[in-house]
Amino acid sequence: LLKISIVSLILATLSEFNKVSGQDIRHFPDDFLFGAATASYQIEGAWNVDGKSDSIWDHLTHTVPCTVADCSNGDIADNSYYLYKRDIEMLRELGVDYYRFSISWPRLLPTSFTDHVNPAGVEYYNNLINEMLKYNITPMVTLYHWELPQKLQELGGWTNPSMIDWYGDYAKIAFELFGDRVKFWITVNEPHLICHRGYGSTTMAPRLNMQGTGEYLCAKNLMLAHARAWHIYNDEYRSLQKGNISITISATWYEPESEKDAAAAEDYHQFDWGIYAHTVFSEEGGWPHLVADRIATKSELQGFARSRLPALTAEEASNLLGSSDFYGLNHYSSVYVYRNESVVGLYESPSYYDDIEAGTFRLDEWKISPNSSVNMVPWGFYKLLSKIRKDYNNPPIIITENGFATAGGLEDDDRVKYFRGYMAAMLDAIEEGSDIRAYTAWSLMDNFEWMDGYTRRFGLYEVDYESLERTRTPRKSAFVFKEILRTRSLDP
Ligand code: NOJ
Repeated sequence: LLKISIVSLILATLSEFNKVSGQDIRHFPDDFLFGAATASYQIEGAWNVDGKSDSIWDHLTHTVPCTVADCSNGDIADNSYYLYKRDIEMLRELGVDYYRFSISWPRLLPTSFTDHVNPAGVEYYNNLINEMLKYNITPMVTLYHWELPQKLQELGGWTNPSMIDWYGDYAKIAFELFGDRVKFWITVNEPHLICHRGYGSTTMAPRLNMQGTGEYLCAKNLMLAHARAWHIYNDEYRSLQKGNISITISATWYEPESEKDAAAAEDYHQFDWGIYAHTVFSEEGGWPHLVADRIATKSELQGFARSRLPALTAEEASNLLGSSDFYGLNHYSSVYVYRNESVVGLYESPSYYDDIEAGTFRLDEWKISPNSSVNMVPWGFYKLLSKIRKDYNNPPIIITENGFATAGGLEDDDRVKYFRGYMAAMLDAIEEGSDIRAYTAWSLMDNFEWMDGYTRRFGLYEVDYESLERTRTPRKSAFVFKEILRTRSLDP
């Protein structure tokens, strides 16, 4: 009897031990990859060095004084043009599988076109890529992270259909120069921000504010430019270079305030990101019906001779459909949506928000810190991933950005909480069948956060902007991220 009791005591203790030490630990799939991201204008600096020409962000920050929150710009930023070896060292410290960075179009092609390839630009990106490869860090390259050459903006930017060819030529040069070593390409980062913010509002360069027209014109040309690059790669480079190429679409999760607001939330989903995703990832292709029909009806009522959303020809729609090797997803936060009947109606002038008809949304209690631009809603991430799985026939997904902003400081417990919560939500989606292959933290280090300048910090590493060396110091979140990557698992 005594023997039996001792054995059962040992068994009980062992099972208690397992509960505490292992039972709730969640593992990532064996071939799951982790990375960290940045973008050229946000980190490189050296804005006028070695033959680089101006981008729309150089132009905006230099010609409209104090247009950015802290009146700053990216002239020096993190000085990564000179400090890239330290950046790679940080990536090694973290133990990432890949590094997502972007190429600056005006650094590589200062005239915007292929008549002059800047040797210094080629050398910089070669050095960066080769340094990474030395340590087995895979390059993931974004071709367009908002650095349009200013000269092309003067020709209309993304409202000019010639952009499709010009961008295609630029992409081809990049495949030619770097494709022997780059196996992950992202054509365009966040079409919603480029078109809606840049052309339909004043909150991003080039600040055109052509609401209700400019953003839809931009949407068509930008998406076709993406498709052009994908087809060039697919037809001319894939068999030799054997890489993957796709687009990154950002999406907020819109949660209906109550059941009766489900349609309002869906309107937001479709206008904000479905408009882009549907053309590539849906079964039928083209613009989503909800969006196309709404804009056509309103345009007619407003007296336009044609829809403010330019049509896609059958050939254009078919070039877009399936132009992807994975679904690149950037996600940060969620908002509640409700249909506010009192503001629904036909506006006199075209308006994106009138097109959506959703009325309004609120940010509410999720906004956990006054210095944060991001709400912490892990279940919104889970719902978004589930929606993409269902709406687009479970595409392979690479999370190309996810992260949290603070005002700074090394003890970034909020960011730690955010990463853990969002990764757990991602594991929930994986367990339900979502085909998520990789997760990218935004950002490797603090950087120029567009209109917020240096006031919002997203970095795993803090950057000291007072020091000429732009000293980089790991935050608490960097150590936690490193541990997650090392163990390929999340603690309870
Ligand atoms: C999306 C953009 O791609 C990136 O440039 C930006 O810094 C982050 N989100 C954070 O806002």
